[in-house]
Amino acid sequence: MTESRTRTAVVTGTSSGLGKGVAERLVALGWDVLGTVRADGAELPFDTVHCDVTDDNSVARLGERVLQQWGRLDALVNNAGIVLTGPVEELEPAELRHQLDVNLVASLALVRACLPALRAASGVIVQVSSVAGYSADELFGPYNASKFGLEGASEALAEEVRGQGVRVVVVEPGPFRTDIAKKSPQVAGKGFTGLYEPGWRELDEWLDWHASTSPDAEMAAQATQAEDFLRTL
Ligand SMILES: NC(=O)c1ccc[n+]([C@@H]2O[C@H](COP(=O)([O-])OP(=O)(O)OC[C@H]3O[C@@H](n4cnc5c(N)ncnc54)[C@H](OP(=O)(O)O)[C@@H]3O)[C@@H](O)[C@H]2O)c1
Repeated sequence: MTESRTRTAVVTGTSSGLGKGVAERLVALGWDVLGTVRADGAELPFDTVHCDVTDDNSVARLGERVLQQWGRLDALVNNAGIVLTGPVEELEPAELRHQLDVNLVASLALVRACLPALRAASGVIVQVSSVAGYSADELFGPYNASKFGLEGASEALAEEVRGQGVRVVVVEPGPFRTDIAKKSPQVAGKGFTGLYEPGWRELDEWLDWHASTSPDAEMAAQATQAEDFLRTL
């Protein structure tokens, strides 16, 4: 780091899990952080703004606020996400659209809203993908689609903004323990075909492991390349 001015970051989905962990660690590194939340209540050591990332107006207002408040943005961490699991045949198209809306479309809308401020700082966009962004598993189709899509769109974006001094980083964590599965919508038609019972059983067992014994989110926040990368700015 060559300048001593305070670095600024927007982190989406900071009520819990990885987003909260990354935002807290950026604060510990001396950054000014604006985190998005959807509900009041949590005591957080950084400023927050109410924003459902699927609400286009909220996202646009967030971009305007960043420009007014800071004039520049060093990092946008697109972290907010949900995981919808189930076989394609048992999914309603609206459920699939919602998964893509939160994890993929909203991340790009955030980029769009924040690019003027990111350009002003030669900032970085950190896209939180997953191992599920390059490796697919049965019953993870909606989530795989959202993260594979995020990775493809981010590769294109990186080329688009390279000449503007803005960088794009995709991080691909493995599983870590959060309430993401519990907080995400459940498939309304789970099991209605009777054809995917072994897959559902295996998935439920995996989700139990994920919620109880996989590595915790604090460890993930420490280990993630997102933070390692931001530390070098
Ligand atoms: N946990 C894992 O094993 C794992 C592995 C690889 C990648 N990831 C990725 O890591 C990211 C964070 O997940 P996590 O595991 O830390 O889960 P988490 O604790 O559930 O955090 C997800 C965050 O996203 C927010 N969010 C969800 N829908 C939103 C919306 N429509 N608008 C605004 N915010 C919304 C949630 O806010 P609310 O509290 O309001 O719901 C929450 O703050 C996700 O992108 C996930 O795909 C997770």
